[in-house]
Amino acid sequence: MIVLGIESSCDETGVAVVACQAPALPRLLGDALYSQVKMHEAYGGVVPELASRDHIRRVIPLAREALHQAGLELSAVDVVAFTRGPGLAGALLVGAGAACALAAALGKPTLGVHHLEGHLLSPFLSNDPPSFPFVALLVSGGHTQLMQVDGVGRYTLLGETIDDAAGEAFDKSAKLLGLGYPGGPALARLATQGHPQAFALPRPLLHQRHSDFSFAGLKTAVMTTLRSLGDVPTEQQRADLAASTQAAIVEVLVTKAVRAVKAAGLSRLVVAGGVGANAELRRQLDAAALKRGWRVHYPELALCTDNGAMIAMAAAMRLDAGVSTPRSDYSFDVKPRWPVHELVAVGAGCTLA
Ligand code: KG4
Ligand code: ZN
Repeated sequence: MIVLGIESSCDETGVAVVACQAPALPRLLGDALYSQVKMHEAYGGVVPELASRDHIRRVIPLAREALHQAGLELSAVDVVAFTRGPGLAGALLVGAGAACALAAALGKPTLGVHHLEGHLLSPFLSNDPPSFPFVALLVSGGHTQLMQVDGVGRYTLLGETIDDAAGEAFDKSAKLLGLGYPGGPALARLATQGHPQAFALPRPLLHQRHSDFSFAGLKTAVMTTLRSLGDVPTEQQRADLAASTQAAIVEVLVTKAVRAVKAAGLSRLVVAGGVGANAELRRQLDAAALKRGWRVHYPELALCTDNGAMIAMAAAMRLDAGVSTPRSDYSFDVKPRWPVHELVAVGAGCTLA
């Protein structure tokens, strides 16, 4: 079975093709991506209306490219998957509309996918895929979650952010430091020149036993620290503040992730989402895992941020596992706010711990 997947929830248009081959994992045959980062850079963040219009321009050429890479005609596609949510309503509608139009033209069914499930299952596209069960640390621009994953569609939410996401903390702090958008990679670059202990920034909820996160206070602390440095902080001070900010975010993520794996009685951690590309986070998680004899799995670097491959993969894995039935009525809706605990599988739902 061939699945074509479309991602359009934010500022990346992605289209990919995978082949289902149960009991083996689905195989990625083609993957085309266009990032709108350059377009939004001028505004310091994503402009939703511009994002939607650009998705319209990109989605069909990208579908052609993904099929070309796969060496397949459109008629070979059996199911058209798309990101149903969460994300920007207009942007999601473009992907959903394109998916349903393609499927209707082909007379094939559609499947709406939860964006976070795409991130969650993206490490299965790597050369070193995990096996179930594991604890997943989902860290993106809009989400920060710890989940226990016992199988496809069998997710238990262990904890999540009560305010800003980890990526948001990177992005907002980067903005305060006058760095471009998206701020995460820029802040991480500047941090390599600074001292992580230069400024004592808060580690919110670090010592609470639960697995919830809070990052809103960190941004305020970065702002206050910057003000204390006067009108024109030196390059070294800015680098020190970037390194201290990254250290605070990473320490909280690593401590809570390690605690969650231990509490679950497991020895496998999967990291997914854009912040999973952060080199310092990877370094510290790898060190923590090595010490305990655990394994940490990451998506390929290129698949950490949004892409079509993870959506096609999540759809294919759901279909292979028999936990989703594709739709053939071509009516669709999108879910800009779609709580992850609503991700329910047949017979084995997602539960709130
Ligand atoms: O998963 P993603 O592409 O989009 C969402 O679904 O939100 O994640 C984007 C987030 C942004 O906040 C970006 O700044 C952050 O991931 N990010 C990073 C790095 N690369 C991307 N944060 C820290 N270090 C990085 N290297
Ligand atoms: Zn994402």
